[in-house]
Amino acid sequence: MDKVVIFDTTLRDGEQAAGSSLNVNEKLEIARQLEYMGVDVIEAGFPASSVGDYEAVRTLARQIRNTSICALARAVPADIDSAWEAIKEAETPRLHVFLSTSDIHMRYQLKKTRQQVLETAVAAIKQACRYTSNVEFSPMDATRTAPQFLYQIIEAVLDAGASVINIPDTVGYTIPSEFACFIDSIFANVPQVQQAMLSVHCHDDLGLATANSITALLHGARQVECTVNGIGERAGNTALEEVVMAIATRSEQFNLKTDIRTEQIYRASRLVSDLTGFAVQPNKAVVGANAFRHQSGIHQDGVIKERHTYEVINPQSVGIPSSSLVLGKLSGRHALRQRLEELGYGNLTDEEFKRAFSAFKELADKKKEVTTRDIESLMAEDKRTVTEYYHLERIQVTCGDRGIPTAAVKLIGPQGEELADASLGTGPVDAAYKAINRIVKVSNKLTEFTVNSITGGIDAIGEVLIRIEADGVSYIGRGADPDIVVASAKAYMNALNRLLSFGQQPKTKQMAFHQNQTAQEREGDAKEN
Ligand code: KIV
Ligand code: ZN
Repeated sequence: MDKVVIFDTTLRDGEQAAGSSLNVNEKLEIARQLEYMGVDVIEAGFPASSVGDYEAVRTLARQIRNTSICALARAVPADIDSAWEAIKEAETPRLHVFLSTSDIHMRYQLKKTRQQVLETAVAAIKQACRYTSNVEFSPMDATRTAPQFLYQIIEAVLDAGASVINIPDTVGYTIPSEFACFIDSIFANVPQVQQAMLSVHCHDDLGLATANSITALLHGARQVECTVNGIGERAGNTALEEVVMAIATRSEQFNLKTDIRTEQIYRASRLVSDLTGFAVQPNKAVVGANAFRHQSGIHQDGVIKERHTYEVINPQSVGIPSSSLVLGKLSGRHALRQRLEELGYGNLTDEEFKRAFSAFKELADKKKEVTTRDIESLMAEDKRTVTEYYHLERIQVTCGDRGIPTAAVKLIGPQGEELADASLGTGPVDAAYKAINRIVKVSNKLTEFTVNSITGGIDAIGEVLIRIEADGVSYIGRGADPDIVVASAKAYMNALNRLLSFGQQPKTKQMAFHQNQTAQEREGDAKEN
């Protein structure tokens, strides 16, 4: 069986999704999970886009040893230099250079002729190849590029030394039958591609990203660019979990394999959703909450008698815990450890396990039954409290249909000092946020607020997800608690701490995405950032 290279771009194209803002630690945590899951290449970012992205890519290049680390660069000399600087310490660094080749992009965006684009691409690949032989080229908007020009530029960059040719369906425009012919025609017209690796990068604007990607595999592509949960620019990218499970489930159709440890898929999905704040839709293939739930009586009857009647994937094979047994306040360390292992948290340090156990005990005192989702939420909560400048020590709120909602809060400040204040508000959450604002004086705007109950029942944990915006950057915050006002306050503290720690780090806000920026313009942008 041929191997399919899984190129994960969650931290680059996924990060381009509107509203995403991962800090370096969060990127590293996701990268570690991708490495453990067996991803072949991690596209860690776009170093020339901001100082913060550069630092994040460099950190990943130093820390991740078992997966190739890739950096994106425009076909611009300074971009290629900075991408290389960021990844040069990686075990297996890869440079990924892109340049638009469709008439519409060349005319309106680049304002360059075909000949100029061809020369720019060749020069960029030659420059990249002076650093490494592991160079990938993407003719951006390839599926809307004039075929003869596409063949010409692919041939030229292969001659210049590129070893991977990636075909992006940048605007998610193609359909499977057309893409199949497109891939066939590349092999037929540029025979040298056989010696290189052909890759595809599909967007989901028409909901066809996975279908197009697997069609390309059936026609000879051997690398798929994808993201966990399919996040990414606009409607997103091909979902990693869908491609991997399609290959694993229908291996007789593909005669292909990947090196992905599929039991880690669910954990990766939860982690990316928690850290980016992008919820996974319930009916999402493979990782959605309903993906393995059977509602109708006929289906339930079938599954009870023989699972395969209505299930093509075994939930355990993607890491969805098998046990439906709930834990309670009498459950001990052993039971918790076992459940954590099932959830993919088998490698916790003693300190992490101690924290998890005490959080579990605290919850079990409030809630009769602690479910798997409750435990996942506790673990996510633990990860979120790492960069605390201010800690919510206490909150007390009064509200009702007659009185004026009032909140009093006590926070522990950066030097361990106790800080208390109170405020009125239009509702209990508003009062709590205003009281917090009186202590943590950072101006921001609340742009999103959602509450979900993690499990059913009146004593369910409420999970609050918020987004706040300051200086054009958005920060997510999450908080979980059986009391939703407390969960809301925790979420706000989480978002504020993120904002404050972002102030201490190089900015990761991206520069304007101009492909043909001059050096002066780039400098101007860099100063602004
Ligand atoms: O969608 C796209 O064309 C891209 C390229 C940079 C590969 O993300
Ligand atoms: Zn893309």
